[in-house]
Amino acid sequence: MAAIIKTAEEIEKMHIAGKLAADVLTMIEPFVQKGVTTNELDQRCHDFIVNTQQAIPAPLNYHGFPKSVCTSVNHVICHGIPNDKPLKEGDIINIDITVIKDGYHGDTSKMFTVGKGSILAERLSRVAQECLYIGINLVKPGAHLGDIGAAVQKHAEQHNYSVVREYCGHGIGKGFHEEPQVLHYGKAGTGEEIKVGQCFTIEPMINAGKKACKVLSDDWTVITKDKKLSAQWEHTLLVTENGVEILTLRPEETIPRIINHD
Ligand code: MF3
Ligand code: CO
Ligand code: CO
Repeated sequence: MAAIIKTAEEIEKMHIAGKLAADVLTMIEPFVQKGVTTNELDQRCHDFIVNTQQAIPAPLNYHGFPKSVCTSVNHVICHGIPNDKPLKEGDIINIDITVIKDGYHGDTSKMFTVGKGSILAERLSRVAQECLYIGINLVKPGAHLGDIGAAVQKHAEQHNYSVVREYCGHGIGKGFHEEPQVLHYGKAGTGEEIKVGQCFTIEPMINAGKKACKVLSDDWTVITKDKKLSAQWEHTLLVTENGVEILTLRPEETIPRIINHD
C-alpha cells in the first residue's frame, strides 16, 4: 500500500504534535527516580498532555490499552502497562509517548536509567539510540526503507545484540499506525522508496540477548523470552526534499533537527 504524502497544512500539524510529544519526555525526566511507580509517571504524563497541552494521549483505549503511556522496564521490550511497582536503582525504562493534537499524531520514546545503571545496561541503551540515529541519517527521498533496516540491524549485531522482528516503525499522521511498516532489519536497496512529504517513525527494539519475544497474559506487555534486557528509542520523522526533519527532537539531543544530504 502507498504511503500518505502530507500537505503543507498537515505538515504544520505534524510539527506541533511532534513537539508536544517531545515535551512530555522532557517534562517527565526529573520524575523518573527510584521509588516512583510507573502508574505515577503515567498519571503525570496524562495530566500534562490533557491539561497543559490540551491534547489527547493516543494509547489510552487504543485497541483496549488501559493507560496513557507505555512504560517498558528492563526485559520488557515494548507496550508495558504502567503499574504500582516502584522503580529501583539501576532499572532501565522506556517511556513511549504518543499525543494527538488537532487530529495528528506525534510518537516518540526514550530510555531512562534509574540512578546509576550497570555498564551493560548503559551500553545497550546507548547502542539502541545509535541504531535510531543511524537509521534517521539514511532517510531521504529515493532511499529505500530496507536501507534503514539493514543499517540498524548491522549496528546492533556488531555489538552482539539482536533486533526484535515482530514490531516495527510505521507511517504516522491522522492515523497512529499508517502505511508503510518500517522494519529494523533487512537488506539495503529493498522495500519501498522513501518519498518527500512522508511521515514515519523509526523505533528499533534492541535486545541484549536473543531476538525472541513473547506477549504476557495481559495481551500487551512484550518481553524478551530469555529475560535479558531490551532497549528502544523512537522518533517521528518528516521526509524533506533532500533529507529528513526530526519532528520529536528534544533540546538535550545533539543530532541536528534537519539533516540535509545535498
Ligand atoms: N507508541 C507505540 C508505537 O510506537 C504504540 C503503542 S500502542 C499502545 O507505535 F496501545 F500500546 F499504546
Ligand atoms: Co511508534
Ligand atoms: Co511509540
